[in-house]
Amino acid sequence: MSSLLKKVAIVTGASSGIGYASAKLFAREGAQVVVGARRQTELNGLLVEIAEAGGEAVALAGDVQDEAYAKALVELAVDHFGGVDVAFNNAGVLGPMGATAEVGLDAWNEALSTNLSSAFLGAKHQIPAMLRRGTGSLIFTSSFVGYTVGFPGLAAYAASKAGLIGLTQALAAELGPRGIRVNALLPGGTDTPMGRAFANTPETLAYIENLYALKRLARADEIAQSALYLASAASSFTTGSTLLVDGGISINRS
Ligand SMILES: NC(=O)c1ccc[n+]([C@@H]2O[C@H](COP(=O)([O-])OP(=O)(O)OC[C@H]3O[C@@H](n4cnc5c(N)ncnc54)[C@H](OP(=O)(O)O)[C@@H]3O)[C@@H](O)[C@H]2O)c1
Repeated sequence: MSSLLKKVAIVTGASSGIGYASAKLFAREGAQVVVGARRQTELNGLLVEIAEAGGEAVALAGDVQDEAYAKALVELAVDHFGGVDVAFNNAGVLGPMGATAEVGLDAWNEALSTNLSSAFLGAKHQIPAMLRRGTGSLIFTSSFVGYTVGFPGLAAYAASKAGLIGLTQALAAELGPRGIRVNALLPGGTDTPMGRAFANTPETLAYIENLYALKRLARADEIAQSALYLASAASSFTTGSTLLVDGGISINRS
């Protein structure tokens, strides 16, 4: 299989969970991958796994809140692999959890900066590289939270993830005429460190799993398959979409 053959892909949030699984899958599908996150050790482990599977990847550690980092990831992709075709802007945090009236402005700003402004910064530097290719796929990891489901105590997370949908729609309209597709991927609860932090006791996990039509959380590799769909030509007529990959939590009432 080689649905990303000769494509260059940037994946953020690649030290863990959905980003880690997606970077491995993209490389297996023939992409040359630039992986980013703050934790260098985890990125190094990912590079070893990709190389052992016969893939190609380079890593750059940094904070997605930092514009210089967004620029550097694109420069690395261009210098090392010749351009950018796919950018999976996936890094994110849960942010402050609890009563909104008790959320501090710093914690709110940190969550919005990490989940939403980072996506703007990523796109800002990825777009010129994609325009030079005349093609590209931008993907943002949003969530069903803030779209189809309101969970109490997750205001900053929900607002940031809803903001990504607005960003997706505006960019899809702006860049469609120039050959760039832009989509939001909306995973349901996924068994990653973030997913486990939310479902942090056996009772909470059981309660949450029961909310899903499929009665379980997703595996990171299942979400990665949907990221691959949006990254590849399989989704060539898909832009401005909100792709729910949520195990049916949005429609389930059982
Ligand atoms: N798990 C779920 O249930 C779920 C559901 C819907 C949507 N999502 C979304 O899916 C995305 C991936 O989440 P996940 O479940 O895979 O969580 P995860 O395992 O906790 O991974 C989060 C990734 O984001 C990176 N990251 C966080 N803050 C960063 C920063 N300031 N700068 C650079 N990288 C940063 C982390 O790397 P470092 O810590 O090394 O920096 C890590 O690689 C997130 O956007 C999340 O909101 C998750």
